[in-house]
Amino acid sequence: MKVARPRGVDDLLPDAAGAWQRLDMLARSVCHRFGFHEIRTPVFEHTDLFLRGVGEDTDIVAKEMYTFPDRAGRSLTLRPEGTAGVVRAYLEGGLQAAPQPIKLFYASAPMFRYDRPAVGRYRQFHQTGVEVFGAASPAADAEVITLAHALFAEAGLTQAEVRLNSVGCPTCRPRYRERLLAYYRPHIDNLCADCRVRYERNPLRLLDCKVPSCARLAAGAPTVSEYLCEGCAAHFATLRELLSTADVPFTADPGIVRGLDYYTRTVFEVVSGDAGALCGGGRYDGLVETLGGPSVPAVGFAIGIERLLDALARAGGRAEPGEGPCVFVVCAGEGLLADTLRLTSRLRAAGVSAEFDLLGRGVRAQMKHADRIRARFVMVLGEEEAERRVVAIRDMRTGVQEDVAADAVAEWVKERVSSGV
Ligand code: HAM
Repeated sequence: MKVARPRGVDDLLPDAAGAWQRLDMLARSVCHRFGFHEIRTPVFEHTDLFLRGVGEDTDIVAKEMYTFPDRAGRSLTLRPEGTAGVVRAYLEGGLQAAPQPIKLFYASAPMFRYDRPAVGRYRQFHQTGVEVFGAASPAADAEVITLAHALFAEAGLTQAEVRLNSVGCPTCRPRYRERLLAYYRPHIDNLCADCRVRYERNPLRLLDCKVPSCARLAAGAPTVSEYLCEGCAAHFATLRELLSTADVPFTADPGIVRGLDYYTRTVFEVVSGDAGALCGGGRYDGLVETLGGPSVPAVGFAIGIERLLDALARAGGRAEPGEGPCVFVVCAGEGLLADTLRLTSRLRAAGVSAEFDLLGRGVRAQMKHADRIRARFVMVLGEEEAERRVVAIRDMRTGVQEDVAADAVAEWVKERVSSGV
């Protein structure tokens, strides 16, 4: 019996790998331009990190974690998100002693959530994200949102939209929470089962429910913006000004509350059509301290790579076929395998991607194969060419063929490729 892959996970097959690689390179290039440095943290952490970091009352911790005891009985968890691990590494790596702010990014990092698989919802998915530590100013919030906006724009998703909100801070949130509970109290019996639990444990999450009757109630709920303290209101106002100055379009959306407990003040999502959030993020000024460090303000976001690629495909982005080799060397004579191998190796050593036939096929079959794998040039090495110390090169785009001196072929190819011929 064949073994199938588990539910909710996917393979990255060669035809789709090009789109991932381009996105990965783009993310690295944008992050580099904004002065961010890469961090990689382990795929599993002590379970306690997420209990304390993400919050025990969140859906992620309550229902979605892949938690298991290791052979020594320690409880470990496959990371459901990247921020808690980055905070742990920031503290453990002593980065708080380095000049602040510390600007970090992670690219296509695998995350795991045991959720019901659906379109755009996987059990293993990948996030590209950034985290900035040590900057309390709204300029840091603007910096990460501007970076996200640049990444979406350069990826070609012009219809991506930033939705922005403030969820206040420990000073103003309790007052809002009370007001929200008072609003919902007469409606408790009409709430869905999840929302009844949210009412008790995490009332802000009531605003985020997708069940139609709950969503209708949420639409009439008091908004947090009316309850922000002076500091939070000023922070939010300055951020909006900065984003306008940076030409980053956004919509203020009081319904954005986010599913993780660590957020303070700014929260935001990037959405496109009705595909759900492609990116989520915000400020988390209390998290470093919660995880045992000093008080360090921080802000960041994470993009779901599968969702971004799906949105790009839906937006009609060209599904570019994977690139073929620059050169396919056709072995056209018995006993010329060694020469074929030598020529291929010389091309590769010169930085030219090159392949040759591994199946011992005839010349016609080799030519056909070269065409099917989209080789740019085919070099034919036969008895006669070997004697004259030349190689017959065919440009597969133009069909033009010419003989080139055997020791000059790498330069010949490189010249043509670099001059865009
Ligand atoms: P999040 O909103 O939970 O935030 O996830 C960020 C993004 O990951 C989502 O917008 C979505 O695109 C993608 N995503 C989440 N769950 C799935 C899934 N099951 N399948 C496919 N894609 C998914 C965070 O994770 C925070 N750590 C973001 C952050 C960084 N906040 C501050 N810094």
